[in-house]
Amino acid sequence: MSPDARPHVFVARRIPDEGLRRIQEVADAEIWPDDLPPPRDVLLQKVAGCDGILALLTDRVDDELLDAAGPQLKVVSNYAVGFDNVDVPACTRRGVAVGNTPGVLTETTADLAWTLLMTAARRVVEGADYVRAGNWKTWGPLLLLGPDIHGATLGLVGFGRIGQAVARRAGGFGMRILYHDVARVPESVEEALGATFVPLETLLAESDFVSLHVNLTAETRGLFDAGAFDRMKSSAILVNTSRGPVVDTAALVTALVEGKIAAAALDVTDPEPIPADHPLITMANCLIVPHIASASLATRARMAEMAAANLIAGITGEPLPTSVNGDPHRA
Ligand code: DGY
Repeated sequence: MSPDARPHVFVARRIPDEGLRRIQEVADAEIWPDDLPPPRDVLLQKVAGCDGILALLTDRVDDELLDAAGPQLKVVSNYAVGFDNVDVPACTRRGVAVGNTPGVLTETTADLAWTLLMTAARRVVEGADYVRAGNWKTWGPLLLLGPDIHGATLGLVGFGRIGQAVARRAGGFGMRILYHDVARVPESVEEALGATFVPLETLLAESDFVSLHVNLTAETRGLFDAGAFDRMKSSAILVNTSRGPVVDTAALVTALVEGKIAAAALDVTDPEPIPADHPLITMANCLIVPHIASASLATRARMAEMAAANLIAGITGEPLPTSVNGDPHRA
């Protein structure tokens, strides 16, 4: 880049203006205009010669993409807290900084996990469909019965920021809260949230609701397989707002068909998006929404500001405000 040339960046989708404006002030930005992500071959062309890339969780950032971008690439700013779409070690090896958007979406994501839990338990979508179909003829003593939420046991798998935010909501419903994670949180946090650390087996056996809040890693991929469903209560409801591949989809279908668990409510699926003709789509006891856990106006705007701040810091050689791999330029 010549001293007075503006840095060139590729923004892989339209994000809220709060972020785009900032990026356009400092860089020549090409913004992918479509609702669907750029096809892989187009993405590889678009990133060529870029100083920075603002990527989404739908864009795989790996050696192939980094090669296509070229050695001048300084930063990949991911518009998400999760970064399982980014090969972080590959970026670090090349001195490319990687940023994400932690913190700002915690409460919004917990809100949706809670919405899914309540919606599935109280069969809200089935009820609405029933009314729309003109089936509502009378008050029914046995109509659309579901489990109580208050007083039930909630198992949180993953007890980071979002898991703890869900625990706070559960406290308001008088729930017994179990959690499992790779490590225990400090006792003061357990006490404040009324949460008890248990082995995963215990959590699966005792929880009426199981909500997933782990990152997708080699260890958590397929964590909810046939064995896990076998250990759960047949009345249990599974909520997933983490990443689709944490749940083995085929095992989930079997578990729902065979009544190994009562229901599932999913914000994320594997594959994602789930095809319209997938068996899960037509099951009354499976509720799926299209990965919208962070989709509040305010949160998506804050994510845009953060992703822009990371991108701008990266292209100007400053440390990223929220970096995933430290400061690889200086490593
Ligand atoms: C994330 O940020 O990782 C969510 O899945 C999308 O907001």
